[in-house]
Amino acid sequence: MKEFLKKHIYKLLIISLVFNLIGFLYVAKKIYYIKLYASNDFVSNQYVSILNYDSLPADAEIDKTFLLNTLVEKFDYNSYLEIGQGKAENNFNRIKCKIRIGVDPEPSCNAAYCLTSDDFFKLNKSTFDLIFVDGLHHKDQVYRDIINSLNCLNKNGTIVVHDCNPENEATQIVPQKEEIWTGDVWKAWVKLRSEKNDVEMFVLNTNGCGIIRVGEQKTIIVPDSLTYRYLSENRDYLLNLKSANDFLIYLKKN
Ligand SMILES: C[S@@+](CC[C@H](N)C(=O)[O-])C[C@H]1O[C@@H](n2cnc3c(N)ncnc32)[C@H](O)[C@@H]1O
Repeated sequence: MKEFLKKHIYKLLIISLVFNLIGFLYVAKKIYYIKLYASNDFVSNQYVSILNYDSLPADAEIDKTFLLNTLVEKFDYNSYLEIGQGKAENNFNRIKCKIRIGVDPEPSCNAAYCLTSDDFFKLNKSTFDLIFVDGLHHKDQVYRDIINSLNCLNKNGTIVVHDCNPENEATQIVPQKEEIWTGDVWKAWVKLRSEKNDVEMFVLNTNGCGIIRVGEQKTIIVPDSLTYRYLSENRDYLLNLKSANDFLIYLKKN
């Protein structure tokens, strides 16, 4: 034993040093994220992913950019399409994908494709890992944007749909009257929930973003005419709401 220790003492010391260093880094990382979370800064730090947390409080907010970057990290995504790019510095420029394509008919947005989403999809031949649907918030347009997005989504890809969960009736009226406005995106969402059994769909109750991935769901039965009252009475059933923590558990399982 003594002989063995004499011969291998340096190797043993190096191995123990490496293990100590790994342990130290692990603990330091945990402390960093706990502090970040406690400082409430984690939402605004859009380069951090929720995967760094073991659990999240039920009311944790997940900013849209934070959510998109979490998906990029989780599934190692390379290509990103944003329908309705808006001002690039608000979200588009912050997405950590190698390939980013923006579509927006408003010239001041300087999108790579200064077109409506319908015109873009007519000419598009590329496919994408992650698609953010955030263009014209009218039900028929959103419905077309989602169907067109499904047709150019890579295997294991994800579609994120903004503004699926309006807080009150006024914010979802079309045409827009309120400054804070979701439009009637939720009606497109509910229609798809009633039609498509070959995808999984849920909405994060923390930020109203809808997630669509190839999979399966039990289609829901809904009336032909959708009213806000019907939504407010059946929100969970219609949207399939998930809390931030359930979403974290979902990501860790997939
Ligand atoms: C809510 S803003 C987008 C915000 C942006 N995605 C962000 O996260 O900062 C909606 C954008 O959709 C664009 N838009 C309007 N009609 C559109 C259409 N038919 N196709 C694509 N984009 C459209 C508008 O010009 C506007 O910039």
